Amino acid sequence: MDGAALSRIGLAGLAVMGQNLALNIAEKGFPISAYNRTASKVDETVKRAVQEGNLPLNGHHSPQDFVLSIKKPRSVIILVKAGLPVDQTIDTLARYMEPGDCIVDGGNEWYENTERRLQAVKEKGLLYLGMGVSGGEEGARYGPSLMPGGTLEAYKSIEDVLQKVAAQVDDGPCVTYVGEGGAGNFVKMVHNGIEYGDMQLISEAYDVLKSVGGLTNQELHEAFSEWNKSELESFLIEITSDIFNVKDDKGPGELVDKILDKTGMKGTGKWTVQQAAELSIAVPTIAASLDSRFLSGLKEERVAAANIFRANGLEDILTHKKLDKKQLIDDVRKALYASKICSYAQGMNLLRAKSLEKGWNLNLGELARIWKGGCIIRAAFLDRIKKAYNRNPNLASLLIDPEFAREMVERQAAWRRVVSLAISVGVSTPGMSSSLAYFDTYRRARLPANLVQAQRDYFGAHTYERVDKDGTYHTEWHKLAKQNKFAAKSRM
Ligand SMILES: *[C@@H]1O[C@H](CO)[C@@H](O)[C@H](O)[C@H]1NC(C)=O
Ligand SMILES: *[C@@H]1O[C@H](CO)[C@@H](O)[C@H](O)[C@H]1NC(C)=O
Repeated sequence: MDGAALSRIGLAGLAVMGQNLALNIAEKGFPISAYNRTASKVDETVKRAVQEGNLPLNGHHSPQDFVLSIKKPRSVIILVKAGLPVDQTIDTLARYMEPGDCIVDGGNEWYENTERRLQAVKEKGLLYLGMGVSGGEEGARYGPSLMPGGTLEAYKSIEDVLQKVAAQVDDGPCVTYVGEGGAGNFVKMVHNGIEYGDMQLISEAYDVLKSVGGLTNQELHEAFSEWNKSELESFLIEITSDIFNVKDDKGPGELVDKILDKTGMKGTGKWTVQQAAELSIAVPTIAASLDSRFLSGLKEERVAAANIFRANGLEDILTHKKLDKKQLIDDVRKALYASKICSYAQGMNLLRAKSLEKGWNLNLGELARIWKGGCIIRAAFLDRIKKAYNRNPNLASLLIDPEFAREMVERQAAWRRVVSLAISVGVSTPGMSSSLAYFDTYRRARLPANLVQAQRDYFGAHTYERVDKDGTYHTEWHKLAKQNKFAAKSRM
């Protein structure tokens, strides 16, 4: 192959995401080489490149031909299942790569695996990036949100490609150099945790409107379409509105009512909650979303439990009072938005804590910006988050940004009405309730933690501090309590 015909970049792993990202890159004018161990995947991709406009993509069946078809210093994106397949693909390709070449893992990888591989390939002089890619199939094909982290030099060598391939929003392409090591994967992981939260909160809004408010699918479709024009404007609200509009192709009614109520998951939400616990960061909304997925999985148990409680006189929904639907829709919209702010505050605080631990120097405002387009959590609201961190990069919590604080206060009465209503009729809203509890805990100057400290000191001599004097104290609680002054007084 002569020099002029070499590709700008290569992509290995041609499952759905890989194929679409390769076609996207080619469409942006970067000649690309594509490889997959399974020859049919390569041929399929080449065929699509021809059909979708004679895009500059060439397929390779041999890993050596593939690597050698790329211009030096070479950049190869790999999009295979996280874990062992990534190690195997790196082994296969690195054999033919040379010092200065770069490997970019675009999978949902655990950040420590990226840090390990980055070190391992460094010994061969190779550069490495772990790059979060969000946006599903559509995003990969027409513009994803990209979260690359690792060697800065590697990022610089493909920045021109990534900037063209990423989703474009009013303030630039949805890509930025996130930070060193596994920073890109970590940010993508938290993005997914936040996504769990958003989806859970939306499903609770749906449950309250449907199960308590009695809204039909048509009314739900209309409410969500309206919300998509409000402060909630976002991809997830938009697709939810669409979902209510889809008829069942196998029977009467809408498809949404025929779907088994059991949520799947792939692990990034669990990792987010585990990392939060490691770093002592409260993420109750995200944790509630994860727990809800676990509980949804117990379908047979839940059906059995519903029967047992019904036999004891407890119905699924406890009361059916007539509600003002318009008022309820308005309240739920406000509750959803306020809950969402709490969830993002948790996710951002987790990112900041990890950034401090690892020295990543994450720019939270910039991360909010690259999530404005392409990814699943894209929303008008992310622009407000970006602005909040631009106003104050050291913001302790999104909740106390002046604008968000005002928005929370404006919505808190409606939020409490929705959560109280749900509790009173026995419809669980774990995401909204834990967001509200998070807010009510965070905004209170004094919590009942004094009592917990007293208990700890009582049984374990763990000591306590005082509100009025410096120092550490321990009290002989048991002995003093025996003197029992309250009881003595009341006997008098
Ligand atoms: C190629 O395709 C198969 C699925 O057909 C997939 O399992 C494999 O990981 C892909 N990637 C590479 C680099 O071969
Ligand atoms: C949601 O809002 C966006 C942005 O205004 C718009 O492009 C989209 O068509 C809307 N979708 C629905 C279903 O209303």
